[in-house]
Amino acid sequence: MNVFITGASSGIGAALASAYASQYKNQGLNIGLAARRSEHLQKLKILLETQPNIRCYIYPLDVRDHQALAVAAGDFIMHAGAPDMVIACAGVSRGTLTEHQEDIAAFQAVMDINVLGMVHTFQPFITAMREAGGGQLVGIASVAGIRGLPGAGAYSASKAAAISYLESLRVEMSPSNIAVTTIAPGYIRTPMTDVNTYTMPFLMDADVAAQKFIKAIAGKRRFVVIPWQMGWLGRIMKFIPPVVWDWAMKKAPYKPRLDWDWL
Ligand SMILES: NC(=O)c1ccc[n+]([C@@H]2O[C@H](COP(=O)([O-])OP(=O)(O)OC[C@H]3O[C@@H](n4cnc5c(N)ncnc54)[C@H](OP(=O)(O)O)[C@@H]3O)[C@@H](O)[C@H]2O)c1
Repeated sequence: MNVFITGASSGIGAALASAYASQYKNQGLNIGLAARRSEHLQKLKILLETQPNIRCYIYPLDVRDHQALAVAAGDFIMHAGAPDMVIACAGVSRGTLTEHQEDIAAFQAVMDINVLGMVHTFQPFITAMREAGGGQLVGIASVAGIRGLPGAGAYSASKAAAISYLESLRVEMSPSNIAVTTIAPGYIRTPMTDVNTYTMPFLMDADVAAQKFIKAIAGKRRFVVIPWQMGWLGRIMKFIPPVVWDWAMKKAPYKPRLDWDWL
């Protein structure tokens, strides 16, 4: 089994890598781990390779850099072969407000990482996957992409764009036997949500979520919200008329506008 994951240094990506390593320790797994923080990737590689038949390849890179991803993909394919699965999990979330000029750079970064980063991740693998007879591309979107959340315009817009992009890709890839799965998580306990001071309904631990993601991926689900309770909320959210949405969101908590040194 060959799996390539971005956003593997933390949270959901790291939990997915660990869960796949446990699942495939008998059959064998080649896993590509990409993110910016190389020391986190290195630690994860050491941990995963303590299990038999697990081979990790680490790629410290920024998903905004399409050339870096092309080099990483080339290296992974050379060592492991075409991936069975590419999971674009890298993402950032920060509060943004359009009235602040300093947030323009934040809008740019969130869109570049969460949307273009996904394109950069999939693109260099598609030819090899097609030649190998197929595979699966998985994009981690968010419930925040179903409707616009106040205080999170950049994040909501980026995840709405990701959902639409993945839907286009799903149809485009189908003749090549490459399945596309969109996962829209609700609240998962990771460093991304640790900063939230408000109540997060149906909050789920990352290792529990990873098992549910893996089941959805194995079932080649086209679009899935996890946890399922959020799925029902998401369905309702989708059909609420704008006037009701505006009223419901009046008292919604805003994601904090933190410092931007991570840009
Ligand atoms: N946690 C939730 O409740 C939740 C809900 C809905 C959707 N999601 C989505 O799930 C995905 C994973 O989030 P998480 O909760 O696991 O957050 P996290 O713990 O903060 O992990 C984010 C991951 O993305 C990587 N990343 C961020 N910017 C990057 C860049 N420019 N280049 C390469 N890698 C980058 C980070 O690694 P480096 O910093 O080392 O680069 C890290 O590995 C994200 O797409 C997020 O939007 C999360």
